[in-house]
Amino acid sequence: MERFAVFVSGNGSNLEAIIEAIGNGKIEAKLSLVVSDNASAYALKRAAKAGIERFCFDPKDYCKREDYEALIIKELKEKGVDFIVLAGFMRILSSYFVNRYKNKILNIHPALLPSFPGAHAVRDTLRSGADQTGVTVHFVNEGVDSGPIIVQDIEPIRVDDTEETLTERLHKIEHKLYPEVIDLFAKEKILVEDRAVKIIIKGEQDEN
Ligand code: GRF
Repeated sequence: MERFAVFVSGNGSNLEAIIEAIGNGKIEAKLSLVVSDNASAYALKRAAKAGIERFCFDPKDYCKREDYEALIIKELKEKGVDFIVLAGFMRILSSYFVNRYKNKILNIHPALLPSFPGAHAVRDTLRSGADQTGVTVHFVNEGVDSGPIIVQDIEPIRVDDTEETLTERLHKIEHKLYPEVIDLFAKEKILVEDRAVKIIIKGEQDEN
């Protein structure tokens, strides 16, 4: 069974959904480690409650990004981690890190990439006047939310939507979509070559 780590910085509702999906047999992979750059992240409490090992670091303790990334890599190797799931992790990983886990790092983003990358995707989408948005799961590269797209789910924007109401609906989508993608990835049913991603469903290949 594949082993993975989840990287978090904050609330961890996606982490919770992932833990639940493992419990229900909807993700057939082992969550071996939760990594956080924020000691007070609520996500760490969720991980502790589920009995999952945690590695927490404070970026301020290191001169450069590669220094703490080297420590993370050491932890990942010790736990035999095969792939990484970013779930609200608010740091950009260096090319040093990304190249070591090339096409082995997934992220979820609350907008239809390549539109509205960055930390304020929902607010930026609403301000744009767009009438639809969604959720994107993608591979992570050295850029900001710029890696190959795996799957997207669309959500209409309502005229009375606020950042809060829209975020709530997008979270519901995320909590269903991310575990499904993680399970497919763990079963090697998501293939990537350059920016072309293929998802194998029941023996068929779906190219997006
Ligand atoms: C999610 O909206 C995700 O799309 C984005 O960060 C948020 C994390 O939320 N990358 P949570 O910590 O999982 O509740």
